[in-house]
Amino acid sequence: MITSVSKRMTFSAGHRIFNPEYSDDKNRQIFGDCSNPSGHGHNYILEVTLTGPVDPETGMIINLKEMKAILQNEIVNKVDHKNLNLDVPFMKDIIPTTENLAAAIWNILDDKFGAEMLTRLVLWESENNKVEITR
Ligand code: NI
Repeated sequence: MITSVSKRMTFSAGHRIFNPEYSDDKNRQIFGDCSNPSGHGHNYILEVTLTGPVDPETGMIINLKEMKAILQNEIVNKVDHKNLNLDVPFMKDIIPTTENLAAAIWNILDDKFGAEMLTRLVLWESENNKVEITR
């Protein structure tokens, strides 16, 4: 039997998808409207799943309040209403695609939760597009 617990958090952030090594034309060719110089925003949904033993004393894998506090402090407070290209240190020099943002969030949370508890992370960029990382 494998037991997991998941929590969903939301945040809004802006970005421009472009590679500074490319010309404006090449950026437009590859990234389309996503590379418009003025940027655009998304309402992201982050879903994080932790897997682990259920503590027999508490009946929980992790206290959901503690899980929420970590997601809030380590991720949401750092990205919400920010520009991912300019305002978020952990995305510095990284093209802020959903794939790269999800990977950066994974690395932070994997360190924080430890013990390989983090087993799945889903980041929705829009109603129809998501990126999923599993261990
Ligand atoms: Ni976008």
